[in-house]
Amino acid sequence: MKIATILGTRPEIIKMAPIIDEIDKNNIDQIIIHTGQHYDKEMSDNFFKDLEIPTPNYNIHVGSGTHGKQTGHMMEGIEEILLKEKPDIVLVQGDTNAVLAGALVCGKLHIAIGHVEAGLRSFDMTMPEEINRRAADVCSTMYFIPTENSAINLLSEGFSRKNLIITGNTVVDACFRHLEIAKKRGFEEKSLKKLDIDNMDNILTLTMHRAENVDVKKRVNNIIDALKELTEMNVIFPIHPRTKNMLEKFGLFDELNNLKHVHIVKPIGYLDFLLLTSKSTLILTDSGGLQEEAITLNVPALTLRYNTERPETVTAGGNILVGSNKEAIIENANKILNDEKFADNMKNAINPYGQGDAAKKTVDAIKKYYDEGMLNITAPEEIMTSFTRKMIQIKEDITVKEFETNKNSLIHMVFDGEKMRVPTDELNINEMIISYTQYNKLA
Ligand code: UD1
Ligand code: UDP
Repeated sequence: MKIATILGTRPEIIKMAPIIDEIDKNNIDQIIIHTGQHYDKEMSDNFFKDLEIPTPNYNIHVGSGTHGKQTGHMMEGIEEILLKEKPDIVLVQGDTNAVLAGALVCGKLHIAIGHVEAGLRSFDMTMPEEINRRAADVCSTMYFIPTENSAINLLSEGFSRKNLIITGNTVVDACFRHLEIAKKRGFEEKSLKKLDIDNMDNILTLTMHRAENVDVKKRVNNIIDALKELTEMNVIFPIHPRTKNMLEKFGLFDELNNLKHVHIVKPIGYLDFLLLTSKSTLILTDSGGLQEEAITLNVPALTLRYNTERPETVTAGGNILVGSNKEAIIENANKILNDEKFADNMKNAINPYGQGDAAKKTVDAIKKYYDEGMLNITAPEEIMTSFTRKMIQIKEDITVKEFETNKNSLIHMVFDGEKMRVPTDELNINEMIISYTQYNKLA
């Protein structure tokens, strides 16, 4: 079996690293394709070193550009490589332009695609990421889903339960493993050493890079106005290149940089960043990965967004959405700083993203699919049967799998009282309402 992994930005490198390791441990052939979307040393190369993963076999060097340009250029490059390499499955991660490009190319080439971190939804179609993740899900063969909530998103959109595999999120694997390494090593980044974080009080780690925040001057202004008032905190701000460009364009960089309690540094390596976040009193961010890492590291998070595709972090109590609302940022940051009970409740939120074995679950599932010939994408040769969509309440002790076998059917949705459940093979559906497809022989 040969597995190809496509990645191109900082979070994809971090979240695919545990899977790349696991593929290697299983002695499976693999190739890594870098789209080149992130190219600065601080946004790409340093992560391959920190995470100890091999240099990519290919780099498409797409660089920066409009969405159409980036995606189109990636598609051409990916197609050429896949035609030559002929992998059995291609893995894409998350919601970047690489995910969209990879999924579209594989769909047309009839190569199985595994979407890592599938099923997330912000329901905000102005986000490029929402379009990417939805389109990738339409083309995918295997879905590696972090939480039950994300599986329910897919079931609600009509995806078959058959290929939904709840794994947890590989960010937990990466976080657990590398925090230990980082603790043994200590800070390496020169700028962080100079700051002497170990002796600092009340660290607020800030990251922001979402287009809907940093490309809008009013939003950036609101966030800076809030930071101006949080003088009890030491704000450490590893700045994303997009954000640095925009702050300079708006003439706001110096204003923020001149604040005594705000320390702007270059994007920092993964090990140093994990050490920094784990020592933080509070994380203020619009990053997807950081919302997940905050709850994994038991650090309260305030998210600079009006919606999130990670609502589990909010319902668990570890994350609060504050948008770019100055008052909401200040009020919640001060509560975390001064109200011990409030802060403890946030710190003690249960991590919904699993135990750190997502990579193993992912690769085990791929091996099973490969062994059973389920990665072969071929046109069906059976004559199509007629089918009827039905809904009933079950009144007997029976599992999902037994019901499907007895009735030659496929269950889509299961409601236990008012709550939707994920129909796993072994779920007993007595007393539940189900919707299913009944396959009939044509007369
Ligand atoms: C991309 C992803 C986003 C992800 C983020 C992770 C898409 C649509 N966006 O956003 O989902 O959360 O990566 O960080 O795929 N730049 C540099 N050096 C680099 C990379 C970028 O200077 O190495 C600058 C360029 O000016 C570029 C800008 O940052 O125009 C934005 O980069 P881009 O890759 O388009 O999007 P991100 O904001 O990084
Ligand atoms: N990160 C890092 N150094 C930094 C900032 C972030 O290592 O200076 C890591 C962080 O730990 C997380 C990932 O980058 O795992 C998040 O990437 P980003 O916020 O760029 O993208 P998103 O997750 O929003 O797609």
